[in-house]
Amino acid sequence: MHIDILTLFPEMFDSPFSASILKRAIDRKLVSVSLHNIRNHTRDKHHTADDYAYGGGIGMVLKPEPIFETVESIKSGYADQESSQLPVILLTPQGRRFSQEIAYELSKCSHLILICGRYEGVDERVREHLVTDEISIGDYVLSGGELAAMVVVDAVARLLPGVLGSADSATDDSYATGLLEYPQYTRPALYRGWAVPQVLLSGDHAQIAKWRREQAIQRTLERRPELLDKANLCLEEKQLANRLKKS
Ligand code: 6GU
Repeated sequence: MHIDILTLFPEMFDSPFSASILKRAIDRKLVSVSLHNIRNHTRDKHHTADDYAYGGGIGMVLKPEPIFETVESIKSGYADQESSQLPVILLTPQGRRFSQEIAYELSKCSHLILICGRYEGVDERVREHLVTDEISIGDYVLSGGELAAMVVVDAVARLLPGVLGSADSATDDSYATGLLEYPQYTRPALYRGWAVPQVLLSGDHAQIAKWRREQAIQRTLERRPELLDKANLCLEEKQLANRLKKS
């Protein structure tokens, strides 16, 4: 997958892309990221990327020309038909709320263009005539779309084939199963008098799987009950959930 990111602050992306899983994915060429400074596509001598809002009001608005021209320069490397289908995603608090489902959807694309909104806004013509999708990462306000773009890149990249160590490591994740994850333990078996649940030391894989599934259901019920309605539970598990709900 290739990801182009438009931003006024490309340096913000240095550290998340140079550590851990994202770094390894980039080193192994499973994903490539190009950062484009919108300011490089300004034409005036002051390199103006934002301006006052028509109609007044506080705050600056990102100008349309540098954003259109940056996206067009990226698309110029593609055949017309291909470039007209490229997802161009604006990161904005007004977008649809990002989720694991959207991460899956985006992980199927071979190329993404992400535009980081900044300041009080982006000229509406960018939304109307350039952008194909708008994404928010949650109901709170960030000073810009950069952190949101990093969140999206991380969540999408780890779903790409080969990025995680074993093929299964993403399938047990919270949200992938529709449930929160079960509790995890590692050595030592006894720490400050706190013991690891016996079943996990039993070597009985069927019992361990059952215990984990029950714990995941219980945890989801306690913390995010609304997720349970959408989760894929078998009849036995539904009965368990109902018993837990009552108790
Ligand atoms: Cl995508 N941008 C900004 N500025 N704030 C946000 C956001 C995005 N998602 C949640 N809050």
